Amino acid sequence: MKIRKVIFPVGGLGTRFFPITRAIPKEMLGIIDKPLIHYAFEEAISAGLEEFILVTRHGKNSIEDYCDYMFTHSRYFNIRSGSICYIRQNEPKGLGDAVLCAKNLIGDEPFAVMSADDFIFHDKSCIGEMIKHYNGSNMIATMSVAPNEVSKYGILDVKSETDRLVVAKSVDEKPNIKDAKSTYAIVGRYLLSHEIFNILVDLEPGVGNEIQLTDALLKMIPTHGLTGFKFDGQRFDCGSKEGLLTAILHTANSNKELSNVINNFYRKKR
Ligand code: UTP
Repeated sequence: MKIRKVIFPVGGLGTRFFPITRAIPKEMLGIIDKPLIHYAFEEAISAGLEEFILVTRHGKNSIEDYCDYMFTHSRYFNIRSGSICYIRQNEPKGLGDAVLCAKNLIGDEPFAVMSADDFIFHDKSCIGEMIKHYNGSNMIATMSVAPNEVSKYGILDVKSETDRLVVAKSVDEKPNIKDAKSTYAIVGRYLLSHEIFNILVDLEPGVGNEIQLTDALLKMIPTHGLTGFKFDGQRFDCGSKEGLLTAILHTANSNKELSNVINNFYRKKR
């Protein structure tokens, strides 16, 4: 079945960016002249996704204002009106809970989930490439991380692997270094069966007392499998200060005028 809908969960607190995220949503932090949410839309639209569901909450209204602007200026996007909608997450209870909030807007078709704070720099759309490889198994984007980073991610226990795909036999949210079964981490791109809602609805809080999407993926492995897609391009964790700064430098460096600014800055420092 064609994947048409994407959920952008934007309900998180963004504690790693306090105090700025007390008033500005993390997804509105800028990479030069566009906020993170803009890049996520670019990736989704070039993948052919048509219906955009933002799971938002109190204090995030500037995202809606920005989307109004983006979709009324055809130099950005020219989508049909009515294909973007917003639903509230009353409390930030975790990514799994945010996805569950969109249940009634998804219905009974497979769908995508994209975290705007995972910025993937590449000329091909990561979610678009995943859709090309989608075979009905729940699919996540994966990359190998440094061993001392595994405790920040959902980590796969690998059953088999090809150049592009990693088939998981299990998955563990934020394991200790010594317990991690691999260094393949889940990155914020997902293609999911709508049946995940049946699991999420009864899911108990997990790590960090949050409803973890990873825990629902684990429960579905016997029926729906779990496949990791090894994506191309560079990914930056823009939920962290280091990641956002590196993404800004990387983007600036690929622009002639801005790369001169960076070079001049370092020249003066020397
Ligand atoms: P994070 O795990 O980065 O959490 O969320 P966070 O609250 O945004 O940031 P920190 O860790 O406190 O700094 C990953 C994605 O899930 C969304 C976030 O907005 C982000 O896109 N999310 C998280 C929700 O939509 N709701 C939640 O309850 C939690």
